[in-house]
Amino acid sequence: MSRPATFDHWIAALEARHLRDLTFPEISRALRALSSAYVERRHKLAEGAALSGAGKRAAFALFYGPLHFLLVHHIVNALPDANVSFETLVDLGCGTGAAGAAWASACARAPRVFGIDRHPWSVAEASQTYRDFAIDGRVRQDDVTSAKLPKSPASLLAAFTINELSDESRETMLARLLERAAHGDRVLVVEPLAGFVAPWWKRWADTFASAGGRADEWRVRAKLPDIVAKLDRAAGLNHREITGRSLWSG
Ligand SMILES: C[S@@+](CC[C@H](N)C(=O)[O-])C[C@H]1O[C@@H](n2cnc3c(N)ncnc32)[C@H](O)[C@@H]1O
Repeated sequence: MSRPATFDHWIAALEARHLRDLTFPEISRALRALSSAYVERRHKLAEGAALSGAGKRAAFALFYGPLHFLLVHHIVNALPDANVSFETLVDLGCGTGAAGAAWASACARAPRVFGIDRHPWSVAEASQTYRDFAIDGRVRQDDVTSAKLPKSPASLLAAFTINELSDESRETMLARLLERAAHGDRVLVVEPLAGFVAPWWKRWADTFASAGGRADEWRVRAKLPDIVAKLDRAAGLNHREITGRSLWSG
């Protein structure tokens, strides 16, 4: 899978920044805790538990960010016309900005990116990511369920965000996304493959299909950056394949 040259510079910058204050063993320990928060303590996610603590934030930035980048980059290059140039990308729950940067940098001319995240650390981190990719981007600290969004036409991305919402917020988000799709906006939702992470997936997939969209599953073999492969091994994880699933209304 080809990736933009800026990807390697971004990884090097992430490594330098996050390994300045924490050691590799500290980050790999935090990665174990973060991974178990995603699996065993999912009920705490809506309270923002995943990004509580410098170690987990560094682990998210250095490990999950690059994996999400590689997956989303693959997806937008595979979905028909997802990577044709467009003006505005809204990254809902942008985290470190990885997924939005992946979509933007897959386009011949990168769109302007508006990141939205409720966590102050994400706002700073995503701003830095957009700078590292030379993307015209800005980030706002806000709740995706109520934030004012840029006007249509726009492409909306929600990568690994919807599963962190409460049931009520998720319903609000589904209605918001479908309304934007009905007005001609493009919508891409990406989530992990594991069924227990998104028990709501089938209903969302059926709803997207009735609105003319599609659902896909992805298994991507990609060469992982060295730091990601090293963390993968140290934390006892196995990402020889990067997996995920998506909903697309294009
Ligand atoms: C697992 S991370 C994914 C980040 C990024 N989209 C990616 O693919 O790497 C989920 C992000 O959603 C954010 N988030 C969760 N609920 C949110 C809400 N209601 N409003 C705004 N951001 C939210 C979290 O702060 C976190 O940064």
